[in-house]
Amino acid sequence: MNRLSDKVAIVTGAARGNGRAIATRFAAEGAKVVVADVRDPNPDFSDDGLVFHHTDVSDSSQVKDMVAATVERFGRLDTLVNNAGIEIENGYKTVVTLSEDDWDKIHNINLRGMFLCSKYAIPAMSENGGVIINIGSIAATLADPGMPAYNAAKAGVHMLTRAIAVDHGSQGIRCNAIAPGWIMTDMTASLFDDVDDREAAQRQVAAQHPVGRFGRPQDVANMALWLASDESEFASGQIFTLDGGLTAGSPVAT
Ligand code: NAI
Repeated sequence: MNRLSDKVAIVTGAARGNGRAIATRFAAEGAKVVVADVRDPNPDFSDDGLVFHHTDVSDSSQVKDMVAATVERFGRLDTLVNNAGIEIENGYKTVVTLSEDDWDKIHNINLRGMFLCSKYAIPAMSENGGVIINIGSIAATLADPGMPAYNAAKAGVHMLTRAIAVDHGSQGIRCNAIAPGWIMTDMTASLFDDVDDREAAQRQVAAQHPVGRFGRPQDVANMALWLASDESEFASGQIFTLDGGLTAGSPVAT
């Protein structure tokens, strides 16, 4: 219960979904957590260890303010979880039909946001270093139909992870990424909005996983906890796939 005692963390995009599970798990393990999101948490957090800070990760002045407010309130910063991310809101598009604005929006939040948060968080981390965890995706290495901006941004997240680990390792900064597969959150549920038989479609996707189910936000939180804790002190610059075995097998069934 105290694997993160005395640690101070920022988790972006933590009003709901994977980020919320990570933030509440960190707090349960003794961390003080700043929940940074453009959306108010609903329901609100009841735990004293969790504090909401309204932040758009694509806005550098708001990101600077988020880091300053964290250090002012808790006196230090140990861990940054770059989780905030969006999928395209206007349906499936190819590079021909995707608008320039949607490309920019996805990249500004999903990739530039992680750059900005890392840029301003690292100098605030102590001389003893810190931990950055980026939420990538299996979509960084496997192209989903109709999601070129998301796929490309997540590929950037994975390389940004390695770059931060290489450049800041000597300062005691460890940086890793989690590459989740299908985790059942609001974002994932919305992918089935236009399907005739939602339950049948979800059963079919779940059955494609060797473990026989979708991932849960708690699965992501469990891995983030390990990466944030000292138990993973030799892990850096790596991408940890978390997909119930989905990408382990050949896509061509015989
Ligand atoms: P979600 O949509 O449930 O939650 C995302 C959160 O990010 C929301 O609370 C939203 O308000 C916040 N957010 C959006 N734009 C923001 C901004 N500009 N600044 C600050 N916060 C912002 O999504 P979910 O599923 O929890 O995804 C979280 C992360 O996990 C994302 O980076 C996503 O790409 C990644 N991921 C999710 C997978 C899944 O199957 N759910 C699979 C692989 C990766």
